[in-house]
Amino acid sequence: MSGVIVMLSMLLLAETTQNVSIFDPASPQAESIRNLAILVLAITGGIFLVVEGILFYTMFRFRRGATPGPVVATPDPKIPPPVAVEPAGTTPEPPQVYGSKPIEIAWTAAPTLVVLILLLVITRTLWEIAPDLPEPQEGDNALFVTVIGRQWWWEYRYEHYNGRKLGFTTANELHIPVGRDGKDYPVYLTLKSGDVCHSFWVPRLAGKTDLIPGRTNHMTFHTATPGLYVGQCAEYCGTQHAKMLLRVNAQHADEFESWLRHEGQPAADVETAREDRYVFLKQSCVSCHPVRGTEKETPATQRGYAPDLTHLMSRKTLASGIKENNKDTLREWVRNPQDIKAGCLMPAFGLNDRELDSVVRYLLTLR
Ligand code: CUA
Repeated sequence: MSGVIVMLSMLLLAETTQNVSIFDPASPQAESIRNLAILVLAITGGIFLVVEGILFYTMFRFRRGATPGPVVATPDPKIPPPVAVEPAGTTPEPPQVYGSKPIEIAWTAAPTLVVLILLLVITRTLWEIAPDLPEPQEGDNALFVTVIGRQWWWEYRYEHYNGRKLGFTTANELHIPVGRDGKDYPVYLTLKSGDVCHSFWVPRLAGKTDLIPGRTNHMTFHTATPGLYVGQCAEYCGTQHAKMLLRVNAQHADEFESWLRHEGQPAADVETAREDRYVFLKQSCVSCHPVRGTEKETPATQRGYAPDLTHLMSRKTLASGIKENNKDTLREWVRNPQDIKAGCLMPAFGLNDRELDSVVRYLLTLR
Protein backbone atom coordinates (compact mmCIF):
# COMPACT_ATOMS: atom_id res chain seq x y z
CA MET A 1 0.00 0.00 0.00
CA SER A 2 2.69 2.47 1.03
CA GLY A 3 4.59 1.52 -2.15
CA VAL A 4 1.55 2.54 -4.18
CA ILE A 5 1.31 5.83 -2.29
CA VAL A 6 5.01 6.55 -2.87
CA MET A 7 4.58 5.76 -6.56
CA LEU A 8 1.51 7.97 -6.83
CA SER A 9 3.20 10.86 -5.07
CA MET A 10 6.20 10.45 -7.40
CA LEU A 11 3.84 10.58 -10.37
CA LEU A 12 2.25 13.69 -8.90
CA LEU A 13 5.67 15.19 -8.36
CA ALA A 14 6.63 14.42 -11.95
CA GLU A 15 3.46 16.14 -13.05
CA THR A 16 4.02 19.20 -10.91
CA THR A 17 7.72 19.59 -11.66
CA GLN A 18 6.77 20.51 -15.18
CA ASN A 19 7.70 23.50 -17.26
CA VAL A 20 7.47 26.81 -15.38
CA SER A 21 9.99 28.71 -17.53
CA ILE A 22 9.25 32.32 -18.41
CA PHE A 23 11.24 31.61 -21.59
CA ASP A 24 8.54 29.25 -22.83
CA PRO A 25 5.45 31.48 -22.86
CA ALA A 26 1.99 30.14 -23.72
CA SER A 27 0.12 33.45 -23.91
CA PRO A 28 0.74 36.78 -25.68
CA GLN A 29 1.11 38.44 -22.27
CA ALA A 30 3.81 35.99 -21.13
CA GLU A 31 5.44 36.42 -24.55
CA SER A 32 5.70 40.20 -24.05
CA ILE A 33 7.36 39.59 -20.71
CA ARG A 34 9.74 37.03 -22.25
CA ASN A 35 10.74 39.51 -24.98
CA LEU A 36 11.35 42.23 -22.41
CA ALA A 37 13.41 39.84 -20.27
CA ILE A 38 15.59 38.92 -23.25
CA LEU A 39 16.15 42.58 -24.17
CA VAL A 40 17.03 43.53 -20.58
CA LEU A 41 19.35 40.52 -20.30
CA ALA A 42 21.03 41.47 -23.60
CA ILE A 43 21.58 45.10 -22.56
CA THR A 44 22.76 44.31 -19.04
CA GLY A 45 24.84 41.40 -20.37
CA GLY A 46 26.48 43.77 -22.88
CA ILE A 47 27.27 46.29 -20.12
CA PHE A 48 28.67 43.47 -17.97
CA LEU A 49 30.95 42.30 -20.80
CA VAL A 50 32.21 45.84 -21.57
CA VAL A 51 32.91 46.67 -17.90
CA GLU A 52 34.57 43.33 -17.13
CA GLY A 53 36.46 43.47 -20.44
CA ILE A 54 37.95 46.88 -19.61
CA LEU A 55 38.69 45.71 -16.06
CA PHE A 56 40.55 42.59 -17.20
CA TYR A 57 42.34 44.41 -20.02
CA THR A 58 43.56 47.02 -17.52
CA MET A 59 44.58 44.41 -14.97
CA PHE A 60 46.73 42.54 -17.47
CA ARG A 61 47.97 45.43 -19.56
CA PHE A 62 49.09 47.54 -16.60
CA ARG A 63 49.99 44.87 -14.08
CA ARG A 64 53.29 45.37 -12.27
CA GLY A 65 55.85 43.33 -14.13
CA ALA A 66 58.86 41.65 -12.49
CA THR A 67 61.62 44.23 -12.03
CA PRO A 68 64.51 43.21 -14.25
CA GLY A 69 67.48 42.44 -12.03
CA PRO A 70 71.03 41.66 -12.96
CA VAL A 71 71.32 38.65 -15.23
CA VAL A 72 73.20 35.84 -13.54
CA ALA A 73 74.30 33.24 -16.04
CA THR A 74 75.44 30.53 -13.60
CA PRO A 75 74.00 31.09 -10.12
CA ASP A 76 76.49 30.34 -7.39
CA PRO A 77 74.77 28.18 -4.72
CA LYS A 78 76.86 29.89 -2.01
CA ILE A 79 75.57 33.35 -2.86
CA PRO A 80 71.84 34.04 -2.04
CA PRO A 81 69.86 35.16 -5.08
CA PRO A 82 69.53 38.94 -5.44
CA VAL A 83 66.39 40.49 -3.90
CA ALA A 84 64.71 42.68 -6.48
CA VAL A 85 64.42 46.15 -4.97
CA GLU A 86 62.56 48.69 -7.03
CA PRO A 87 64.53 51.91 -7.31
CA ALA A 88 62.40 54.78 -6.01
CA GLY A 89 60.65 56.94 -8.60
CA THR A 90 60.99 54.51 -11.50
CA THR A 91 57.50 52.91 -11.41
CA PRO A 92 55.84 53.82 -14.71
CA GLU A 93 52.55 55.66 -14.03
CA PRO A 94 49.86 55.69 -16.70
CA PRO A 95 49.00 59.15 -18.00
CA GLN A 96 46.70 60.99 -15.56
CA VAL A 97 43.61 62.40 -17.22
CA TYR A 98 41.52 65.10 -15.54
CA GLY A 99 38.32 66.63 -16.81
CA SER A 100 38.34 65.28 -20.33
CA LYS A 101 35.19 66.70 -21.86
CA PRO A 102 34.50 63.92 -24.41
CA ILE A 103 34.88 61.22 -21.70
CA GLU A 104 32.62 63.08 -19.24
CA ILE A 105 29.96 63.49 -21.91
CA ALA A 106 30.26 59.86 -23.01
CA TRP A 107 29.83 58.34 -19.55
CA THR A 108 26.89 60.59 -18.72
CA ALA A 109 25.11 60.14 -22.03
CA ALA A 110 25.55 56.37 -22.38
CA PRO A 111 23.83 55.36 -19.07
CA THR A 112 21.11 57.97 -19.62
CA LEU A 113 20.41 56.50 -23.03
CA VAL A 114 20.35 52.94 -21.65
CA VAL A 115 17.94 53.94 -18.83
CA LEU A 116 15.72 55.79 -21.29
CA ILE A 117 15.54 52.81 -23.67
CA LEU A 118 14.71 50.45 -20.77
CA LEU A 119 12.05 52.86 -19.48
CA LEU A 120 10.39 53.02 -22.88
CA VAL A 121 10.32 49.27 -23.52
CA ILE A 122 9.14 48.52 -19.97
CA THR A 123 6.32 51.05 -20.38
CA ARG A 124 5.35 49.45 -23.68
CA THR A 125 5.31 45.97 -22.09
CA LEU A 126 3.22 47.20 -19.14
CA TRP A 127 0.84 48.70 -21.67
CA GLU A 128 0.62 45.41 -23.59
CA ILE A 129 -0.13 43.24 -20.58
CA ALA A 130 -2.34 45.70 -18.66
CA PRO A 131 -5.88 44.39 -18.37
CA ASP A 132 -8.47 46.55 -20.03
CA LEU A 133 -11.40 45.19 -18.04
CA PRO A 134 -14.48 45.17 -20.29
CA GLU A 135 -18.12 44.65 -19.30
CA PRO A 136 -19.11 41.00 -19.71
CA GLN A 137 -21.33 40.54 -22.75
CA GLU A 138 -22.65 37.71 -24.85
CA GLY A 139 -20.32 36.53 -27.57
CA ASP A 140 -17.16 37.89 -25.93
CA ASN A 141 -15.96 34.36 -24.97
CA ALA A 142 -14.49 36.04 -21.90
CA LEU A 143 -14.18 34.39 -18.51
CA PHE A 144 -14.30 36.55 -15.36
CA VAL A 145 -13.09 35.02 -12.12
CA THR A 146 -12.47 36.63 -8.75
CA VAL A 147 -9.44 35.08 -7.08
CA ILE A 148 -9.08 35.38 -3.32
CA GLY A 149 -5.75 34.49 -1.79
CA ARG A 150 -6.02 32.84 1.61
CA GLN A 151 -3.58 31.25 4.03
CA TRP A 152 -2.77 28.94 2.22
CA TRP A 153 -5.11 28.20 -0.64
CA TRP A 154 -6.89 29.87 -3.53
CA GLU A 155 -10.57 30.64 -3.68
CA TYR A 156 -12.04 31.03 -7.19
CA ARG A 157 -15.37 32.74 -7.65
CA TYR A 158 -16.64 32.16 -11.16
CA GLU A 159 -18.50 35.35 -12.10
CA HIS A 160 -19.24 35.45 -15.86
CA TYR A 161 -18.54 33.49 -19.00
CA ASN A 162 -19.53 34.61 -22.47
CA GLY A 163 -21.86 37.19 -20.92
CA ARG A 164 -23.57 34.59 -18.72
CA LYS A 165 -23.69 34.97 -14.97
CA LEU A 166 -22.16 31.96 -13.20
CA GLY A 167 -22.00 32.55 -9.47
CA PHE A 168 -20.34 29.43 -8.08
CA THR A 169 -17.17 29.06 -6.07
CA THR A 170 -14.42 26.48 -6.20
CA ALA A 171 -10.89 26.17 -4.87
CA ASN A 172 -7.26 25.64 -5.87
CA GLU A 173 -7.72 24.39 -9.44
CA LEU A 174 -8.60 27.05 -11.96
CA HIS A 175 -10.23 25.97 -15.23
CA ILE A 176 -10.08 28.22 -18.28
CA PRO A 177 -11.30 27.88 -21.87
CA VAL A 178 -9.13 27.56 -24.96
CA GLY A 179 -10.39 28.11 -28.51
CA ARG A 180 -10.41 25.27 -30.99
CA ASP A 181 -11.58 27.78 -33.60
CA GLY A 182 -8.63 30.17 -33.47
CA LYS A 183 -10.70 32.71 -31.54
CA ASP A 184 -9.43 34.31 -28.34
CA TYR A 185 -10.90 33.24 -25.04
CA PRO A 186 -9.69 35.99 -22.70
CA VAL A 187 -9.50 35.37 -18.98
CA TYR A 188 -9.93 38.30 -16.60
CA LEU A 189 -8.91 37.77 -13.00
CA THR A 190 -9.87 40.12 -10.19
CA LEU A 191 -7.36 39.57 -7.42
CA LYS A 192 -8.13 40.09 -3.73
CA SER A 193 -6.85 38.80 -0.43
CA GLY A 194 -8.69 37.45 2.59
CA ASP A 195 -5.79 37.88 5.00
CA VAL A 196 -2.20 38.80 4.06
CA CYS A 197 -0.38 39.60 0.80
CA HIS A 198 -0.11 36.79 -1.74
CA SER A 199 1.00 36.83 -5.37
CA PHE A 200 -0.55 35.01 -8.31
CA TRP A 201 2.15 33.70 -10.62
CA VAL A 202 1.75 31.17 -13.41
CA PRO A 203 4.93 31.98 -15.36
CA ARG A 204 3.85 30.58 -18.75
CA LEU A 205 0.57 32.49 -18.73
CA ALA A 206 1.23 35.89 -17.18
CA GLY A 207 3.42 37.98 -14.93
CA LYS A 208 3.18 38.15 -11.16
CA THR A 209 0.34 40.16 -9.68
CA ASP A 210 -0.08 40.63 -5.95
CA LEU A 211 -3.25 40.00 -3.97
CA ILE A 212 -3.29 42.71 -1.33
CA PRO A 213 -5.71 43.09 1.59
CA GLY A 214 -8.04 46.06 1.06
CA ARG A 215 -7.07 46.47 -2.58
CA THR A 216 -8.30 45.03 -5.86
CA ASN A 217 -5.90 44.12 -8.65
CA HIS A 218 -6.59 42.73 -12.09
CA MET A 219 -4.80 40.61 -14.59
CA THR A 220 -5.62 39.14 -17.97
CA PHE A 221 -4.25 36.47 -20.29
CA HIS A 222 -5.40 34.05 -22.94
CA THR A 223 -3.81 30.98 -24.38
CA ALA A 224 -4.34 28.84 -27.45
CA THR A 225 -2.68 25.74 -26.01
CA PRO A 226 -4.71 23.41 -23.80
CA GLY A 227 -3.00 21.72 -20.89
CA LEU A 228 -2.03 22.12 -17.30
CA TYR A 229 -0.12 25.24 -16.26
CA VAL A 230 1.37 25.29 -12.82
CA GLY A 231 2.60 28.11 -10.66
CA GLN A 232 3.15 29.15 -7.12
CA CYS A 233 2.23 31.91 -4.70
CA ALA A 234 5.09 34.33 -5.21
CA GLU A 235 4.87 36.50 -2.11
CA TYR A 236 5.85 35.18 1.32
CA CYS A 237 2.54 34.78 3.17
CA GLY A 238 3.39 32.69 6.21
CA THR A 239 4.63 29.25 7.25
CA GLN A 240 3.01 27.33 4.40
CA HIS A 241 3.73 29.82 1.61
CA ALA A 242 5.73 27.13 -0.20
CA LYS A 243 2.67 24.87 -0.17
CA MET A 244 0.39 27.30 -1.94
CA LEU A 245 0.60 25.92 -5.44
CA LEU A 246 -1.32 27.07 -8.48
CA ARG A 247 -2.89 24.83 -11.09
CA VAL A 248 -4.56 26.16 -14.21
CA ASN A 249 -6.37 23.69 -16.48
CA ALA A 250 -6.77 25.12 -19.94
CA GLN A 251 -9.37 23.06 -21.76
CA HIS A 252 -11.20 23.28 -25.08
CA ALA A 253 -14.25 25.51 -24.92
CA ASP A 254 -16.74 22.63 -25.19
CA GLU A 255 -15.06 20.66 -22.38
CA PHE A 256 -14.89 23.84 -20.37
CA GLU A 257 -18.64 24.38 -20.90
CA SER A 258 -19.45 20.93 -19.54
CA TRP A 259 -17.11 21.50 -16.60
CA LEU A 260 -18.97 24.78 -15.90
CA ARG A 261 -22.34 23.02 -16.05
CA HIS A 262 -21.14 20.33 -13.67
CA GLU A 263 -19.57 22.73 -11.16
CA GLY A 264 -22.69 24.88 -11.14
CA GLN A 265 -24.81 21.99 -9.83
CA PRO A 266 -25.44 21.50 -6.11
CA ALA A 267 -23.72 18.58 -4.37
CA ALA A 268 -24.81 15.08 -5.32
CA ASP A 269 -27.25 13.57 -2.84
CA VAL A 270 -26.37 9.88 -3.00
CA GLU A 271 -29.05 7.65 -1.51
CA THR A 272 -26.55 5.14 -0.09
CA ALA A 273 -24.46 7.85 1.54
CA ARG A 274 -27.26 9.43 3.59
CA GLU A 275 -25.92 8.15 6.89
CA ASP A 276 -22.38 9.33 6.08
CA ARG A 277 -23.80 12.68 5.02
CA TYR A 278 -25.54 12.94 8.37
CA VAL A 279 -22.25 12.32 10.21
CA PHE A 280 -20.53 14.92 8.02
CA LEU A 281 -23.20 17.54 8.74
CA LYS A 282 -23.23 16.69 12.46
CA GLN A 283 -19.47 17.28 12.64
CA SER A 284 -20.23 20.85 11.50
CA CYS A 285 -17.63 20.69 8.70
CA VAL A 286 -20.07 22.92 6.81
CA SER A 287 -19.59 25.71 9.33
CA CYS A 288 -16.48 26.59 7.35
CA HIS A 289 -16.64 24.47 4.17
CA PRO A 290 -19.56 25.35 1.89
CA VAL A 291 -21.32 22.38 0.31
CA ARG A 292 -24.06 23.65 -1.97
CA GLY A 293 -27.31 21.84 -1.25
CA THR A 294 -26.88 21.52 2.49
CA GLU A 295 -27.81 25.09 3.41
CA LYS A 296 -31.32 24.24 4.62
CA GLU A 297 -30.15 21.63 7.10
CA THR A 298 -27.22 23.53 8.51
CA PRO A 299 -27.30 27.32 8.43
CA ALA A 300 -23.61 28.10 8.24
CA THR A 301 -21.96 30.62 10.47
CA GLN A 302 -18.83 31.29 8.45
CA ARG A 303 -19.38 30.00 4.92
CA GLY A 304 -16.52 30.76 2.58
CA TYR A 305 -13.97 30.49 5.34
CA ALA A 306 -12.57 27.28 3.87
CA PRO A 307 -12.55 25.63 0.41
CA ASP A 308 -15.93 24.87 -1.16
CA LEU A 309 -16.37 21.08 -1.13
CA THR A 310 -19.43 20.82 -3.41
CA HIS A 311 -17.40 19.07 -6.13
CA LEU A 312 -14.32 18.18 -4.12
CA MET A 313 -13.65 14.96 -6.01
CA SER A 314 -13.55 16.78 -9.37
CA ARG A 315 -10.25 18.20 -8.16
CA LYS A 316 -7.06 16.23 -8.74
CA THR A 317 -5.20 17.61 -5.76
CA LEU A 318 -5.68 18.40 -2.11
CA ALA A 319 -4.49 21.22 0.14
CA SER A 320 -3.62 23.60 -2.71
CA GLY A 321 -1.85 21.22 -5.02
CA ILE A 322 0.44 19.47 -2.55
CA LYS A 323 -1.20 16.01 -2.39
CA GLU A 324 -3.07 13.88 -4.84
CA ASN A 325 -6.76 13.86 -3.97
CA ASN A 326 -7.79 10.30 -3.14
CA LYS A 327 -9.36 8.25 -0.37
CA ASP A 328 -6.11 7.79 1.58
CA THR A 329 -4.88 11.37 1.45
CA LEU A 330 -8.39 12.64 2.29
CA ARG A 331 -8.49 10.43 5.36
CA GLU A 332 -5.01 11.56 6.35
CA TRP A 333 -6.06 15.19 5.90
CA VAL A 334 -9.33 14.97 7.85
CA ARG A 335 -7.65 13.02 10.69
CA ASN A 336 -5.11 15.77 11.24
CA PRO A 337 -4.51 18.52 8.67
CA GLN A 338 -1.66 19.82 10.84
CA ASP A 339 0.41 16.76 9.93
CA ILE A 340 0.29 17.82 6.29
CA LYS A 341 0.13 21.59 6.53
CA ALA A 342 1.22 22.75 9.98
CA GLY A 343 -0.33 26.06 10.91
CA CYS A 344 -3.33 25.84 8.58
CA LEU A 345 -6.66 26.99 9.97
CA MET A 346 -8.25 23.54 10.09
CA PRO A 347 -7.61 21.74 13.37
CA ALA A 348 -7.79 18.00 14.01
CA PHE A 349 -11.33 17.36 15.18
CA GLY A 350 -10.47 14.15 17.00
CA LEU A 351 -12.92 11.97 15.06
CA ASN A 352 -12.94 8.31 15.93
CA ASP A 353 -12.28 5.75 13.19
CA ARG A 354 -15.96 5.18 12.41
CA GLU A 355 -16.68 8.90 12.09
CA LEU A 356 -13.56 9.37 10.02
CA ASP A 357 -14.63 6.58 7.65
CA SER A 358 -18.10 8.11 7.33
CA VAL A 359 -16.83 11.61 6.61
CA VAL A 360 -14.37 10.34 3.99
CA ARG A 361 -17.04 8.11 2.39
CA TYR A 362 -19.31 11.13 2.13
CA LEU A 363 -16.57 13.33 0.69
CA LEU A 364 -15.91 10.69 -1.97
CA THR A 365 -19.50 11.15 -3.22
CA LEU A 366 -18.88 14.87 -3.89
CA ARG A 367 -17.99 14.36 -7.52
CU1 CUA B 1 0.32 32.91 -0.45
CU2 CUA B 1 2.69 33.01 -0.41
